[in-house]
Amino acid sequence: MPNISQHTLHIAAMTAALKAAHPWLGAAMPNPTVGAAAFSADGQLLAAAAHQRAGEPHAEALVLAECRRQGLLSQVDTLAITLEPCNHQGRTPACSALIIDSAVRRVVYGVSDPNPQAAGGAARLRAAGIAVTGEVAKQACLLQLAPFLYHQQTGLPWITVKVAQRQDGGMIPDPGAKTFTAPPSLLLAHRMRKKAGAIVTGSGTILADHPLFTVRRLPDFPQVRRHLAILDRRGRVPADYLAAAKNRGFAVAVADDFGQVLSDLGRAGVLEVLVEAGSTLLASIQASGQWNLWVTITQGLNGGEDRVDCQLNSSHYLPFQPSSFRLDDWLPQA
Ligand SMILES: NC(=O)c1ccc[n+]([C@@H]2O[C@H](COP(=O)([O-])OP(=O)(O)OC[C@H]3O[C@@H](n4cnc5c(N)ncnc54)[C@H](OP(=O)(O)O)[C@@H]3O)[C@@H](O)[C@H]2O)c1
Repeated sequence: MPNISQHTLHIAAMTAALKAAHPWLGAAMPNPTVGAAAFSADGQLLAAAAHQRAGEPHAEALVLAECRRQGLLSQVDTLAITLEPCNHQGRTPACSALIIDSAVRRVVYGVSDPNPQAAGGAARLRAAGIAVTGEVAKQACLLQLAPFLYHQQTGLPWITVKVAQRQDGGMIPDPGAKTFTAPPSLLLAHRMRKKAGAIVTGSGTILADHPLFTVRRLPDFPQVRRHLAILDRRGRVPADYLAAAKNRGFAVAVADDFGQVLSDLGRAGVLEVLVEAGSTLLASIQASGQWNLWVTITQGLNGGEDRVDCQLNSSHYLPFQPSSFRLDDWLPQA
């Protein structure tokens, strides 16, 4: 067991790593958004960073580079990382080797790497004489990394369904209106889009609303190219809508089977899907059980605040304990 002060330092270090990752959740697909933070021996935060884009440096490398830039490299004692440092040379060098070559004496991490190609980082660090402590703030790290862990386990994207409803359960806006929920709920919906690698919808929604499906109420990740999959068995969605969606940057697919859409998106490296659809497609998803998180936004009474309810589907693999789920932690912050 670590002594109290060491345990407290570990938690503080991991909290900084989680905080660094939070704005970037969803940005690095098909990679996980990993956060890292470097501390001096007397517990001062030296630098923190997140892995922001596949093919670019991992969080550990960014943090060490930032310490070098600030002339602090020799002071780095403890490195906290939400995911075990990788042990393989891919598009970037193995993080375990980078750490061994640095001044780092202690590594704390949250979750072991489930990717067999990348695993083994902790063992390699220990063999090099670095003190390694795993499973620090494990549930918070599992929550941040859940879409990646789910995809690793199942080959499928994590499916989040978002529904807005009136008090009576109605889902259709008034004629001429696009929505009936309040601005905080609209911001929430755009945070959900920002995190997702794909939007899945039905032809009925396209024909009724011609939705843009872009992220507008907060800055988007500029590098992310989202998929838009439209279930349209009868081919009712006009070609000009599809062309305009492509022009907005979407990789567009028209499909007739939700399960097939999920497999295709999983194979394309999409870690999380957001379903934004009308009652027809939602009823069939509900009946099939092919969802992981169901978020229902209910319009407030008499201009009062909307209510947000989250339900997790426990019949699928759930990487984290349900009690650790908080929507604000799950989504990139506004
Ligand atoms: N409040 C909200 O959260 C919200 C969100 C989105 C939309 N809406 C509203 O919902 C209304 C549209 O509702 P809707 O029920 O017509 O639209 P929808 O559910 O978005 O789309 C329905 C179409 O999706 C296809 N589909 C449904 N289930 C399928 C399945 N299992 N496999 C393959 N294809 C499937 C069908 O296409 P085929 O007919 O070709 O078979 C069906 O006609 C609009 O007024 C819109 O404003 C509300």
